[in-house]
Amino acid sequence: MTATVIDGKAFAARVRAEVAAHVARLREESGVQPGLAVVLVGEDPASQVYVASKGKQTVEVGMASFEHRLDASTSEADLLALIARLNADPSVHGILVQLPLPAHLNAELVINSIDPAKDVDGFHISNVGLLGTGQKAMVPCTPLGCLMMLRDHHGSLAGMNAVVVGRSNIVGKPMAQLLLGESCTVTIAHSRTRDLAEICRRADILVAAVGRPEMVKGDWVKPGATVIDVGINRVERDGKTRLVGDVDYASAASVAGAITPVPGGVGPMTIACLLANTVTACCRSLGLAEPQGLTA
Ligand code: GUN
Repeated sequence: MTATVIDGKAFAARVRAEVAAHVARLREESGVQPGLAVVLVGEDPASQVYVASKGKQTVEVGMASFEHRLDASTSEADLLALIARLNADPSVHGILVQLPLPAHLNAELVINSIDPAKDVDGFHISNVGLLGTGQKAMVPCTPLGCLMMLRDHHGSLAGMNAVVVGRSNIVGKPMAQLLLGESCTVTIAHSRTRDLAEICRRADILVAAVGRPEMVKGDWVKPGATVIDVGINRVERDGKTRLVGDVDYASAASVAGAITPVPGGVGPMTIACLLANTVTACCRSLGLAEPQGLTA
């Protein structure tokens, strides 16, 4: 069997086009331009690339982008004061504090100081609780992107066996909650799970978000299963740096029914879903109907 390749790059372009259409309608009908504020503390090179990409795509869909680049030595009090200003600013509908933060800053405290209604990352404890209890939440972008691709491919996911490998707060745990919300039977596994290969082989939907290059092999995949690879790992191969996922693509693609590649799978969906969350936050703040198909 050769798997259908789920094209995240093309899907993300469709999501951005939908977001742009909603933004245009909001500006025309309500005179409101959704705005996203991104806060970057320090000079982490990967974070700088992400933040630049977020700013560019925000502007491309017609939203306002507010970038706050702060020195690595910024105090917690100054960062909290900036977030308080952004919470109170009516032109800002979404706030994202880029992680990781420098070690002297308490990331949990900082994230929990964001107004939950503007928490477009879905990391605030209130949003985590809302998602966990099946209530309307801001949903973390990467798992939201995975869910959109799964719904698009399968329609209903009800009754399917889903295995999520990885238990992070950013991906693994919210992904499991979302799949439970779709009436899947969900197993959360991780790097220390016993008989991991055996558990993965039971999955109709296998989500790999464990951060280990090419850990999931083809013989861990049930024939015909859908494999979603969240991993982005840099490896040295033949003297070159290459990006690989948490799934051994070549062997898995020969067994799976559908699979996301790396790069070009889940990755592009994350920023697209950040833009979608910002429009959703804007609509909710104005009491307007929120876009269909862009939320969980
Ligand atoms: N750093 C890496 N990924 C993310 C993300 O999704 N959100 C934030 N805020 N920081 C990140």
